[in-house]
Amino acid sequence: MSSSSESSSNSFSAEKYFATQPPPSTLEQDVSRVREFVDRQVAEGRKVVLVTSGGTTVPLELNVVRFLDNFSAGTRGATSAEYFLKAGYAVIFMHRQFSLQPFSRHYSHSTHPFLDFLDIDPTDTDGHKISVTRAEQAQLLNVLTTYKEVHQTGALHTLTFVTVNDYLWMLRAVSKELSILGRNSLFYLAAAVSDFFLPRQKMSEHKIQSGKGSLHIEMDQVPKILKPLVNEWTREGFIVSFKLETDPDLLTPKSRTALSRYGHQVVIGNDLHRRKFEVLFVSPASSSKPLDDQRPGDFVETWIRIDLAKDPSKEIEEDIVAELVKRHDAWIREAKTP
Ligand code: PMT
Repeated sequence: MSSSSESSSNSFSAEKYFATQPPPSTLEQDVSRVREFVDRQVAEGRKVVLVTSGGTTVPLELNVVRFLDNFSAGTRGATSAEYFLKAGYAVIFMHRQFSLQPFSRHYSHSTHPFLDFLDIDPTDTDGHKISVTRAEQAQLLNVLTTYKEVHQTGALHTLTFVTVNDYLWMLRAVSKELSILGRNSLFYLAAAVSDFFLPRQKMSEHKIQSGKGSLHIEMDQVPKILKPLVNEWTREGFIVSFKLETDPDLLTPKSRTALSRYGHQVVIGNDLHRRKFEVLFVSPASSSKPLDDQRPGDFVETWIRIDLAKDPSKEIEEDIVAELVKRHDAWIREAKTP
């Protein structure tokens, strides 16, 4: 779970993690599809963004009946993916199975079920003609048109994870594939990633039995994956991570700490209850100063806010993505400047 608790006694380095935890069975197949997708984008001259989205699970048993989950519907990731596509990026959308996806997110079964706006035409004597209610037509046409265009251009590739183990293996493999793009790759790490896990070697094979009173589980710490991502797997990619907090006083210091610790390009801080209308961008003010030597004034901090009372249909991801596209372009230009 994503938590600030320091109670775990064991922490895994990334090397130890990958040496001891098995890869998902579909990894090789997934990676070869990603490779084909990336090659196509390189040939077509598109920038590529990896969007991670949704929460990871931590299974408690090998034959899994119970698991811990991480909060995230996948709204941030799925919405942002649409705006990246609109900005001309190719998108690898790596998401938790059954979480929201670009385009279909507009018709989520819980908030906007599509059966509610379909009509059976009464003038059709066979009763087989189905139509979309008038009030829904404009939006559906809009979403469907873009969806079809994206599929035609082949600019969206989808990958699915469930467990934190799937996520870590996949992130490592995909980031290595993206490294051929150099600065033309962007990483948008919006998934809610578990901080603790149960190594395979410690898992019960079968369903944990009740009847022995309370259950005590000691979990190990998941390696902080941003570190090898930045330092080893993709040295040139533009990396954006998210920091989720529930205490507003921790948002700024924790976002700064994340940036100092990993040395990447942007941390976007978001408060659980305010994330739909405000986020904080934190980036380094000076790239020349060692990151672990930086003070509050050494960070550039920018709030992005929208007014949902004035414009309820506005999505903050539109402004987040617009800002990132500008910064990513500047980052690409910077490399070309002698
Ligand atoms: O999907 P929604 O309902 O719209 O919600 C969106 C969101 C709130 C989940 C999203 O905006 C968000 O904040 N995602 C990051 C949540 C999270 O896991 O925060 P964290 O503080 O635990 O981790 C911070 C960063 O460290 C993350 O970018 C993560 O990729 C990274 N991390 C986390 C754990 C780990 N072992 N290694 C990591 O590198």
